[in-house]
Amino acid sequence: MTRKKLMAANWKMYKNPDQTRAFFRDFLPLVAGHTRDEIVVCPPYIDLYVAIEDAKGSNVAIGAQDLYWEKEGAYTGEICPSMLLDIGCTHVIIGHSERRQYFGETDDLVNFKLKGALEAGLTPIVCVGEVLEEREANLTEDVLRRQCLRAFHAISAKKAAKLAVAYEPVWAIGTGKTATPQLASAAHLLIRGEAAKAFGQDFAGNLRILYGGSVKPENVKALMSEEEIDGALVGGASLDPKSFAAIVKY
Ligand code: 13P
Repeated sequence: MTRKKLMAANWKMYKNPDQTRAFFRDFLPLVAGHTRDEIVVCPPYIDLYVAIEDAKGSNVAIGAQDLYWEKEGAYTGEICPSMLLDIGCTHVIIGHSERRQYFGETDDLVNFKLKGALEAGLTPIVCVGEVLEEREANLTEDVLRRQCLRAFHAISAKKAAKLAVAYEPVWAIGTGKTATPQLASAAHLLIRGEAAKAFGQDFAGNLRILYGGSVKPENVKALMSEEEIDGALVGGASLDPKSFAAIVKY
C-alpha cells in the first residue's frame, strides 16, 4: 500500500501577513517541482488570505488551524467551513492538543468539527495523542482508542473519505523530545485499527496518519522510513522556510 505522504506545517500563533509573504517568497522556490509528497501550510486565520494568494499555482496547499462547524450565525470570533473554502483553503487541523488543553476542546467538539469539515469538502487533519502522565500510567492505548472512537462517531466511510489523522504525543510537542520511530509506529498501528473498526479495512489501509512532535530536519528521515508513518505535522521547525523545505524533502 503506497500512501502519498502529507507534510504539513502548523504555524500555531506565529507570523503576521508580512512575515507570511516573506516565508512564501523563500519557501516556494525551495520546494518547486517537489511532487513526491503533498505539502500543506496552516497559518493563523489572519494570514490565510495572503498565504493563499502567494501559494496560488504552486504545489503548496493552505489549511486553517481550526474551524467552527455551524454554517453561519451569531458565533462571535468563529470561522465556519464555507468561509475557509471560499478563500481557497483546502485543509484544516482539528482537535490539536493545544486546543484540547488550553481551550477546553472535548472529544465531542472534535467530532462536530470533523463532521463540519467533511460536510464542506475540506481535508481534515484530526489530532490525537496522550499526555505524559497518561503514557507513564500505561494509558496511551486507552486514550488513543477513546479519542478516535469519539472523533469518528456517526461518520460514514464515504463521508470520511478525505480524513487524515495526526498522532501527536503531547509530551513530544515543542519539547525537543521526539517519539522514537518504533513508538510512533505502534501508536499509528493502533489508530489504524480504530479507523478500521469505524470505517472498514480498505479505508484504514488508505488512511494517512501523520506524526507530530519535535519533527526536525535531523530526525524526519528515520520517522518517514516507517511504513506506518504517512507524513508529518510540524510546529516550530516549520516556521523557517529552509528548515521546513528540508523536512519536506527529507
Ligand atoms: P513542534 O513541532 O513544535 O513540536 O509542534 C508539533 C505540533 O504540535 C504540530 O501540530
